[in-house]
Amino acid sequence: MKRTRIVEILASKEVGTRFTVMGWVRTRRDSKGGFSFIEVNDGSCMTGLQIVADGKLHNYLSEVMKLQTGCSIEVVGTLVASVGKGQEVEIQAEEIKVVGWADPDVYPLQKKRHSFEFLRTIAHLRPRTNTFSAVARVRSSVSHAIHTFFQERGFIYVHTPIITGSDCEGAGEMFKVTAFDLDQVPKEEGRSDFTRDFFGHPASLTVSGQLEAEIYALAMGDVYTFGPTFRAEDSNTSRHLAEFWMVEPEMAFCDLEGDVELAVNFLKYIFAYVLENCTQDLEFFNRFIDDSALKTLENLVSQDFKHITYTEGIEVLSKAKKKFEFPVSWGVNLQSEHERYLCEKVFKKPIVVVNYPKGIKPFYMKVDKDEKTVRAMDILVPKIGEIIGGSQREDDYDTLLARIKEANLEPDDYWWYLELRKFGSVPHAGFGLGFERLIQFITGLSNIRDVIPFPRTPGNVSF
Ligand code: 4AD
Ligand code: MG
Repeated sequence: MKRTRIVEILASKEVGTRFTVMGWVRTRRDSKGGFSFIEVNDGSCMTGLQIVADGKLHNYLSEVMKLQTGCSIEVVGTLVASVGKGQEVEIQAEEIKVVGWADPDVYPLQKKRHSFEFLRTIAHLRPRTNTFSAVARVRSSVSHAIHTFFQERGFIYVHTPIITGSDCEGAGEMFKVTAFDLDQVPKEEGRSDFTRDFFGHPASLTVSGQLEAEIYALAMGDVYTFGPTFRAEDSNTSRHLAEFWMVEPEMAFCDLEGDVELAVNFLKYIFAYVLENCTQDLEFFNRFIDDSALKTLENLVSQDFKHITYTEGIEVLSKAKKKFEFPVSWGVNLQSEHERYLCEKVFKKPIVVVNYPKGIKPFYMKVDKDEKTVRAMDILVPKIGEIIGGSQREDDYDTLLARIKEANLEPDDYWWYLELRKFGSVPHAGFGLGFERLIQFITGLSNIRDVIPFPRTPGNVSF
């Protein structure tokens, strides 16, 4: 079946050319003059294409007049200038074939606004709406931009494993992977005997590709990963998913400053890219979701980010008049309310926060000379809070071993990670960008469940 996408037809504006269009009916309006207007959308762009169906079509009464929202059709016709309002061109149909019917009495998507909560329950149909098809296109474009950014700079794309035997973040929030029959798990002294499991060792879904990315950085210089990551944290918030995508560059011969520089350039590149390439979708989000979304993106491309240390951040927050749910003092983790207050109320721009207390950060971050803080950096943006988390890595063998033990992790599980500090260790650094948080920021959508096709959250694994 040969078809031309609506996005290409609208871009060509080749009036007089015959096209075959295939897509889903959004609306049908019948004119008193004995013909109908059918708006068809094929997901290739925000706008649909208006089809004019003449009453003389052989199946006009038998089929065309019965078309409803959700039916799929194949139209052959000629592109003509439109005399009506709302579109420059339309298709004068010569033939309309119904490919699939959709019974209007039971089709859940109607030509009205549905709540996002409702649409989550019909994730198999929500990409047919303007919002969710726009999200899908933006995700696709941003993925392309991410690869382009790194590939143009000579970074090697490394495919890190999804199943892992080590906990990168050391937070223990991992989904177990096992081939055991869970009703009959072999036991040894009362505990599960993983030596008899598939891998002969406890295994989990990865929370980050960083540790493996470091292996490749320490052989090839500049690398990145971009893949799914999993966290079994029971956070039912608008910014947490149990399955999300992360972009993680890792650079050898690089310190924290070089890491921050890459992260800022990277974000600016992505924002400039979407402004240039996703114009129609961004205008839609700006109009219907968040009327400051476009302005915020434009500002970010031109503005400098604010750079502060964690200690400076705590000082500002301690003096704030606002009453926080989580009290602030040196040593506590910044909560989303603190991050957003700093970005939205104090500095009114994205912030790079560096040198967090070592007690609240993972074992792999390089300890500062004061031995109190680590060479960590988080990038915070308005409305979201943390969007990037990164650091310079500990490259000293003894310090790293001590940190692994302090974190109650098993040094044997990290033998290879430790060996990288024994053989040709170099300063190196990297970061992780939460892909869905980035898409939330770009689109202005307030709930992270609406920027991923099939959200996985506590209690939720449908579709
Ligand atoms: O700050 P995080 O935990 O950092 C790491 O995992 C490092 N290993 C990255 C690195 O240095 N290579 O996570 C990185 C980012 C966060 O800033 C956030 O944007 C996102 O991942 N993120 C989540 N996004 C959605 N749902 C969750 N549950 C998330 N947890 C983290
Ligand atoms: Mg973090």
